Amino acid sequence: MKKDFLSPIDIDEHELESIITDAMHLKRLKSAGTAHEFLRGKSLAMIFEKASTRTRVSFEVGMTDLGGHALFLNPQDLQLGRGEEIRDTARALARYVDAVMIRTYAHATLEEFARYSAVPVINGLSDAQHPCQVLADIMTIAERFRDLRDLKLTWIGDGNNVCNSWILSSPLTGMEITIASPPPYRPKEALIDQARAAGGRVRIAADPEEAVRDADVLYTDIWVSMGDEGERAERLKTLKGYTINSRLLAQAPPDALVMHCLPAHRGEEISDEVIEGPQSIVWDQAENRLHAQKALLVRMIAGGMPPME
Ligand code: CP
Ligand code: NVA
Repeated sequence: MKKDFLSPIDIDEHELESIITDAMHLKRLKSAGTAHEFLRGKSLAMIFEKASTRTRVSFEVGMTDLGGHALFLNPQDLQLGRGEEIRDTARALARYVDAVMIRTYAHATLEEFARYSAVPVINGLSDAQHPCQVLADIMTIAERFRDLRDLKLTWIGDGNNVCNSWILSSPLTGMEITIASPPPYRPKEALIDQARAAGGRVRIAADPEEAVRDADVLYTDIWVSMGDEGERAERLKTLKGYTINSRLLAQAPPDALVMHCLPAHRGEEISDEVIEGPQSIVWDQAENRLHAQKALLVRMIAGGMPPME
């Protein structure tokens, strides 16, 4: 049966571990210039309702590296933009391609698409989740720490889609997720309860200073996500004081790392000094989107990697 990847809960801890191992192997193969065309002749359709730099390029280059092909589809150019139903688009596309990646507003769009698609559907970001980002982030953390279990990641700022994927990943990684967000922008209680019920550890902190005190990783994202532009003024006002700057970083352990999924708005959620500073690993995160998604694609389309030599 085909499997989708719409949220971190679609994989278990063993699958996560094997995706990260495969991603690191694929990264070595690429850097050695060794061909790894494990998806020769396969196609990925990519539907983007929203802008993208990293997701679009990493999926497209990833398919090329693997010997396959990716198609960039703008809904405005598809019949979808003229009212064709999601379920009809899903069934037709599955007759041509081997997997579909979708970046959309409503998470329900992805769920409906996946219900009717005979091929795997991958979430390239929805209002609720950004699981591919967190796969790459987990790989990036695994490159720095031998054991993820018991690491502490502190989320500062807007409790958004990326934050939600971190919360749902906690049961898979064993990491503790601490959230420092102003009350209107905290993640939903139901989501936190869901992660806790699956064995995840999630904590709401009183303020950013307290939240970073024993953090291994500080993480933030833009305050105005795609689709939230109408709330810009209100968000900037409420989130003031939640910037990762040198003053806040000084409250964290000296070897704490700083992550951001990008794009960044310097001077809002993160200062220029911190994102450009020695504790920032944001470019590794961006690079690892490529390797982690290639591992995911090989697993979803070909059932896994050939045995490693
Ligand atoms: N982090 C991320 O998904 O970036 P893009 O919006 O550029 O794809
Ligand atoms: N939270 C951001 C992530 C962008 C990659 C957004 O949804 O716009």
